[in-house]
Amino acid sequence: MNEVGLKSQNECASHMPRSLESTIAESIGAPPAVSSPVQRLETLPESRELPRRPAWVEIDLNRLKRNYELINQDKDARLQVLAVAKDDGYGHGASAVARTALDCGATFLGFSNLEEAMRLRDEGVSCRMLLLGDRQPAELSWCVAHNLTCCVTEERTVDLLSDLAARAGKRVPVHLKINTGMNRYGVRWSEAASLAQRIHAARSLELEGVLSHFSQSDESDKTFANLQMSRFNEALAGMTQRGIACQLRHLCNSGGFLDLPAARFDMVRLGILPLGVFPSSVCRRIPGIEPVMSVKARIAAIQPLVPGDCVGYGMRYTAPSPRRIAVLPLGYGDGFPRVRSEGCVLIHGRRAPLVGGVAMDAITVDITDIPDADVWDEAVIMGQQGPDEISVHEVAKLRGSVSYDVLTSWRTRLPRVYIS
Ligand SMILES: Cc1ncc(COP(=O)(O)O)c(C=O)c1O
Repeated sequence: MNEVGLKSQNECASHMPRSLESTIAESIGAPPAVSSPVQRLETLPESRELPRRPAWVEIDLNRLKRNYELINQDKDARLQVLAVAKDDGYGHGASAVARTALDCGATFLGFSNLEEAMRLRDEGVSCRMLLLGDRQPAELSWCVAHNLTCCVTEERTVDLLSDLAARAGKRVPVHLKINTGMNRYGVRWSEAASLAQRIHAARSLELEGVLSHFSQSDESDKTFANLQMSRFNEALAGMTQRGIACQLRHLCNSGGFLDLPAARFDMVRLGILPLGVFPSSVCRRIPGIEPVMSVKARIAAIQPLVPGDCVGYGMRYTAPSPRRIAVLPLGYGDGFPRVRSEGCVLIHGRRAPLVGGVAMDAITVDITDIPDADVWDEAVIMGQQGPDEISVHEVAKLRGSVSYDVLTSWRTRLPRVYIS
């Protein structure tokens, strides 16, 4: 197992200069007795690496790779993939997600904002990147300078970009974003051809792509998705009538890719599916796709309870009989839903129900029925252990939310441990 991703902890450790130890020792001024603080400081390990926190997010890059292989088998070889790596790769680490996607054949990365894309540029990732939302005027020169492709939705952006591109001596590719019913970003489908004409006429711009985004592609009822698709086709036909062509037409997210083969066009934008999570419970399955992210912790303490004993803040749980309670050192401060006596974790492959409330740094689970569970044994908060699994959808139900929200809600104070 090759583990990376503990950068913040290691950086933190290495930020204590060697001289600080002696400064502390001098200021304490204690004799070098065995039990003195000076002695203890001198026995700090040479490596200066902090022990890893016993609660972490595990990212299995082998699974990510396998998921891409299965997705590649499911599609025509000419269909391009844009890997959506926004929000830190949906909480999996943008860099690892992006690099694996590129290794597996993705031709574009997609981000929501300039900072996300620039972080990867600063790491030396030079591939094509598309910024999915609208840009403020002040961002456009950065996009031109760093080859970050913009979605354009209005004349003003077309004119500003074309001017900046001309001054930089570049021909800059842009993607025209069409609003086919989501009503967030994009030019209305009925007006798309005339904006395409303006881009086409700008000599410093290239209309490389045309895209739209589904409001609902992963539900059984595809009525609105089909309407969006026909509006998208109508806009493309309007462009064709004006003699405007473009190489990359893209409409599908994961749900569209799975369930709407007619909407695949030239490229699909995949976020959640390669991460091993199906966007809904009803969309088509690709057998073998497995979740990339797990959340784990080790049992930090065990409390034997007698009947009438309470657990945690507000005494929310009272033991009805002799119980064994395990404390896991993570809580809502790490992104765990703030529930009360709801949900389970897996220990020794068996379900241990949560009892009491969720604190900032601790949850408590009942391990009475798992008598061999011991301190520092591993618990799975989200993921598989033995034959059972706590799915992201199960955690989403606890959170009263959706899988996307759960994946991106595990806070960065939980170290990311990568398996590759
Ligand atoms: C414009 C756009 N395309 C594609 C995606 C990827 O969606 P999914 O994660 O469902 O594949 C997103 C994600 O929100 C998006 O905003």
